[in-house]
Amino acid sequence: MPGTLSRTTVGIVGAGPAGLMTSHLLARAGIDSVVVDHRTRAEIAGTQRAGILEAGSARLLTDTGVSDRVRREGRPHAGITLRFGGESHRVDFHALVGENVWLYPQTDVFADLAAARERDGGDVRYGVTGTRVTDLATDRPGILFTDAEGVAREVRCAVLVGADGSRGVCRAAVPEAARTHFSRTYPFAWFGVLVQAPPSADELVYTHSARGFALVSRRTESVQRLYFQCDPDEDPAAWGDDRIWAELQARVRGADGFALAEGPVLDRSVLRFRSFVCEPPRHGNMLLAGDAAHTVPPTGAKGLNLALSDARLLAETVERALATRDFGHLDAYGPRALRRAWRAQHFSYRMTTLLHRLPDASPFDERRQLAELSVLVGSEAASAHLAEGYTGLLR
Ligand code: PHB
Repeated sequence: MPGTLSRTTVGIVGAGPAGLMTSHLLARAGIDSVVVDHRTRAEIAGTQRAGILEAGSARLLTDTGVSDRVRREGRPHAGITLRFGGESHRVDFHALVGENVWLYPQTDVFADLAAARERDGGDVRYGVTGTRVTDLATDRPGILFTDAEGVAREVRCAVLVGADGSRGVCRAAVPEAARTHFSRTYPFAWFGVLVQAPPSADELVYTHSARGFALVSRRTESVQRLYFQCDPDEDPAAWGDDRIWAELQARVRGADGFALAEGPVLDRSVLRFRSFVCEPPRHGNMLLAGDAAHTVPPTGAKGLNLALSDARLLAETVERALATRDFGHLDAYGPRALRRAWRAQHFSYRMTTLLHRLPDASPFDERRQLAELSVLVGSEAASAHLAEGYTGLLR
């Protein structure tokens, strides 16, 4: 049964960073939008995701008036540590390429975007059910859903944005013959923990070890975010605090005596990941953004940055199409978004394969990885290339 009908210029499915940033940027250009999400605002706010913003992403938040909280509460990181063979090697982004990144978790980016949309009178409907998209290849695509009060709704728009993540309804609504998927799975996952403990390092520590990858990140002065490579089928419940700490310490241990400050584990989960791209990220008047269009392994922390960069490209493209009344301009979105997405794929794949241990790795494979790591930190050109990729200069 059709629901209560309304119109907007841009209908957006998904109130994560890609959807909310698109809505925010469109509003600044005087273009109205409606955003729907099946999750409640509290559910999205409580989802743990990665924590690094490229300098350009931080600028996008501050310069477009979302919030300047990233500058006040985020931490600028001028480099990272690569740890292998039991020794730490710093890669100084600032000295190499004049850029830094910001430690500012996705939960904060979401909170800022949601508050900015609320402040500016944006129309965001959280907690809707039964979302469907329809008439994508026409000039009046629509979103059908039941709102949080139980009222059936139909929103018709000129352009529809699918920003509803890797398992959302938007990409799935594109006929299979009209999309090509490129993907790669990995035979490992990340065991992620939040711990109540003081920081163990000033910057992120990406560790290669014979037992597999580990990453030391942080959230606040008293809460740290740590990860270690695990089997995709690992059961988080099988890991008590002692076992988690023993594994983490074994991976970072070295002759230099580096050790992690320990404390109670507040949260534990297994994060599976893959590399994925959908081409084209468009069907008719529906454009896909963020994880709906592509996902990257978390090793390079590119997912959130890609989502924000899609939003910027998408808002620019839609603005031009509407200003000129020429929807041919929508053609520009796919190639631009894909160029950026594939560069991030390459970077994330490289970081992932450089640092993780394959379950069937031979001694040759391990020695080769260690040689690559030593070239990376030993050659200024190689370090600068890593710094460009990590800080987002290779857009
Ligand atoms: C995080 O802090 O959650 C984080 C940081 C860097 C990564 C991945 C995750 O590469």
